[in-house]
Amino acid sequence: MRILIASDHAGFDYKEMLGERARDTGHDVLDLGPVNRNAVDYPDFAHDLARALIAGKGDLGVLICGTGIGMSMAANRHRGVRAALCHDAFTAEYARRHNNANVLCIGGRTTGPGVAVQILDIFLATPFEGGRHERRVEKIEMEQGPGNRTQGTLPPAPGKEQHS
Ligand code: RB5
Repeated sequence: MRILIASDHAGFDYKEMLGERARDTGHDVLDLGPVNRNAVDYPDFAHDLARALIAGKGDLGVLICGTGIGMSMAANRHRGVRAALCHDAFTAEYARRHNNANVLCIGGRTTGPGVAVQILDIFLATPFEGGRHERRVEKIEMEQGPGNRTQGTLPPAPGKEQHS
């Protein structure tokens, strides 16, 4: 697969390490920066990677900042991006299996290097299960229009009643 990777200064060392790991496990890696540990703003790199992913320049993305939180917030502003902040093997596996996450976010200051490699390996190797999860993932993109609800406890918004 083609993997896009980017970080901020707090994730720089992990970007280098995880990029190398992805290459070693047979992937093509496109490094979108930064090129050194100088302080930068994480949204700049999250937005660049999200745009590149949507443009089809990669199959999956990896973003690393201090906590992974800012990167996931910024990347998820882009329609079609499903960025998952993963802390362990379980979250990495189910982010792919159930959520069809296409961007992995990791905290370089919160996750140890061994666990980060494990998370990456599992994220890149696990397929989306599809089936019932397909409908749920599609609903993520629906901007919460009450008319799109097929389940739940909230009544439809006025004017959005569904008639069967
Ligand atoms: C940078 O100090 C830090 O705020 C950033 O890497 C990240 O953790 C933001 O979410």
